[in-house]
Amino acid sequence: MTTPPPSLGDIAPEDFRRAAHAAVDWIADYLEHPERYPVRPPVTPGDISAQLAPSAPVTGESLDAIVQDFHDVIVPGITHWNHPTFFGYFSISGSYPGILGELLAAGLNVNNMLWLTSPAATELELRTVDWLRQLMGLGDGWFGEITDTASISTLYALAAARELASGDIRARGMTGLAPMRVYCSAHAHSSVDKAVITLGLGHDNLVKVPVDEAFRMRPDALRACIDADIAAGYRPIAVVATVGTTSTSSIDDVVSIVPIARAAGCWVHVDGAYGGPAAIVPELRWLLDGVDGADSLVVNPHKWLFTPVDCSVLYTKRPDVLKRAFSLVAEYLRTRDDDSVVNLMDYGVQLGRRFRSLKLWMVLRAFGADGIAERLRHHCELARDFAGMLHYEGAWEIAAPVPLSLVCFRFAPAGSDEATRDRWNMAILEHVNASGVALLSHTKLHDRVVLRLAIGNVRTQREHVERTWQALRDAAREVVRRG
Ligand SMILES: Cc1ncc(COP(=O)(O)O)c(C=O)c1O
Repeated sequence: MTTPPPSLGDIAPEDFRRAAHAAVDWIADYLEHPERYPVRPPVTPGDISAQLAPSAPVTGESLDAIVQDFHDVIVPGITHWNHPTFFGYFSISGSYPGILGELLAAGLNVNNMLWLTSPAATELELRTVDWLRQLMGLGDGWFGEITDTASISTLYALAAARELASGDIRARGMTGLAPMRVYCSAHAHSSVDKAVITLGLGHDNLVKVPVDEAFRMRPDALRACIDADIAAGYRPIAVVATVGTTSTSSIDDVVSIVPIARAAGCWVHVDGAYGGPAAIVPELRWLLDGVDGADSLVVNPHKWLFTPVDCSVLYTKRPDVLKRAFSLVAEYLRTRDDDSVVNLMDYGVQLGRRFRSLKLWMVLRAFGADGIAERLRHHCELARDFAGMLHYEGAWEIAAPVPLSLVCFRFAPAGSDEATRDRWNMAILEHVNASGVALLSHTKLHDRVVLRLAIGNVRTQREHVERTWQALRDAAREVVRRG
């Protein structure tokens, strides 16, 4: 046996061990005090690229030098989603057990495409998503798989809906078929639009059903849209209901939507990317009422379940259809167990699949059902507290109901017109975000600018909400002073 020259093989294990121990220490310290950093970094476009070498090094560098650049160049350009006053978009956070799972999965680096390519990864994935199903109070009969994002989960669900509606679309494409239509509320996430575009259904064939005063899809309007489309020769194939919409966290009435969709032969997909995990809280279990009658559901543990990005779970009652849409087994992927195991590559586009269940399994075990419920409940309480603060301060309006942990609000002092309010709210947002004290985001409701404060970080406490409220009021005073 010949000893390989030192230039071959991996770097020395001692170097990795030392750097990795230091990295874990850094992560633990960072997460203990993320507040040492401004939430949004004070950088302008190109600042980070200017500090990066224009091409990769010709000879290898030491881990010490690379890690030093991580601290000096990368960290100063990071927006700290881990910061307890990060309230933008859907505020998310990982957690120590989730990070541990991510680390160990990187160490194993298995490709979970076939059962045979890592039996434990396949079996853990199926078991973990089944745990999550039970925790959310869903009934039996759901098959689940982990994808990277809700956008992909929804794409897969609508691909299955298209497959069911068309029969042999795989072979013949869509030529000669009646135009198919998909329905969602005007507040559904843009991932539904992207899925429809990607699947070649045509963006014009995504029908945005009007919402009621609480931003929920109107079932009567859904029925009217479907009836009108059938009369006009379209083929309705799917309805997407949302449990926790992006702008306001409104919750569509799945119980009423399912029978309307079914009567038209539609697949029902439920987007619970943000809201779904909240059904783990016993008093919020109603959120998923009616979902057991749907065909598919997406929930994102990487949004509101303390699991590091990325981790989305797609459930379906029709794994046979999902498999029909995607399965294609090349000779080199055949195994002797094909008839007796689940090969997860059969349920999506990807062949290679990361070992994502490890981190979710660790999160579910480390916090337990009660621990998760307590944390999610606490976030909802903080959101209600913040809504209370707004309520008692005359110049601010609450712009939408607060069923979960998101508050939509607006600075709207008496005597100001709507256009000025829009301008002021955008200025308040920029002022607070630029200060580094907190980070919020915005949306438009009834065509008016509204600010969003979303709570989902495992470290957020009341003091963080209070500090942000103070920053908002200071910013409002400042923008009014500037006129
Ligand atoms: C309701 C809803 N669905 C889907 C998505 C897309 O999620 P992902 O980033 O996992 O694709 C989002 C993102 O915020 C969302 O709010």
